[in-house]
Amino acid sequence: MTRSAILSGLGTWVPPQVVTNDMLAAELETSDEWIRTRTGITRRHVASAGMSTGHLATEAARRALKSAGADRVDVVVVATSTPDRPCPATAPAVAAALGLVGAGAFDVAAVCTGFVYGLATAAGLIGTEVADSALVVGADTFSTILDPEDRTTRVIFGDGAGAVVLRAGDRRQNGALLGFDLGSDGTGVDLITVPAGGSEQRLSGAKPASADSYFQMDGPQVFVRAVRHMTGSVRKVLDAAALAPADISHLVPHQANVRILDTCARELGLPPERVVKNIDRVGNTVAASIPLALAAGAADGRMEAGQSVVLTGFGGGLTWGSTLLTWPEALDVVDE
Ligand code: COA
Repeated sequence: MTRSAILSGLGTWVPPQVVTNDMLAAELETSDEWIRTRTGITRRHVASAGMSTGHLATEAARRALKSAGADRVDVVVVATSTPDRPCPATAPAVAAALGLVGAGAFDVAAVCTGFVYGLATAAGLIGTEVADSALVVGADTFSTILDPEDRTTRVIFGDGAGAVVLRAGDRRQNGALLGFDLGSDGTGVDLITVPAGGSEQRLSGAKPASADSYFQMDGPQVFVRAVRHMTGSVRKVLDAAALAPADISHLVPHQANVRILDTCARELGLPPERVVKNIDRVGNTVAASIPLALAAGAADGRMEAGQSVVLTGFGGGLTWGSTLLTWPEALDVVDE
């Protein structure tokens, strides 16, 4: 037997408050038509007062545990770049809210690639027998860091959370995570960033400009790099398994922009129906994006046991990463 992490549960939660394109157009110089045609987004969910990233993460994690029929796990990993507090990590509080005091718990910060990095970390802990089970949550509330007056970012991002349960099993079992590709290019640090609030700015002695406390993104640069690195990463993870893009039944990419997803599909030679998309309903939900898309794909009945599925992400850092898995035998996604 070759020990591997097996996908055993999947749950999601988005806050009930919906913001439509028309609602944004009432506040900003934009339109439903521009947002739909340039990004593919029609609406997004936004956290309400009294919530936090940890709240969303806990709701999704509770559903993932139910989906897996599990009441405990050894490790809780929360991928987020909007933690509840700058210090400490959000994961221990999420674990406590789930009744999992005592489990190992820590955050992973890789922005939109965070969920893939979290999966790789948890799969490594399971593979090396540090843990027999893990909960990996991707959760973000980007609504809390967007400049309310910045139409280029406000229209793109939404809040949400998605979670999976991994259990130790055999690599030949359906549901096994079979390989990872992870990468970064820190020379692109300024392309996706909140410049203020960290040690760099605090130690600079300079008072930050008010825009520096908000999220900033160079959209066109990010667009080009997202396509380059997601396609490159998918090819790498497939090469390592001696597979070609044609062998993938479903590609579940980070939902950055529908035009990015379509370009990736074209460059990989994948028919559009093999690429899972739910960006129209939730926008770009950062670390929650991949598990929310995975749940949407599973919910529409397209996944069959044993099929090859690739998850791929790209985000701030810059970071990127992919994983190859087989779809498990029976997985009841819990999203209510
Ligand atoms: N409504 C109306 N017009 C807008 C707008 C909005 N919400 N946002 C930008 N524009 C305008 C720009 O000001 C610009 O006007 P100009 O030509 O008069 O200067 C024009 O639209 C084109 O702007 P540009 O930034 O070149 O548009 P784009 O086609 O690249 O689309 C993004 C912008 C942000 C949607 C696109 O670049 C993108 O999706 N990038 C990737 C973002 C992403 O995925 N980030 C997360 C990565 S993990």
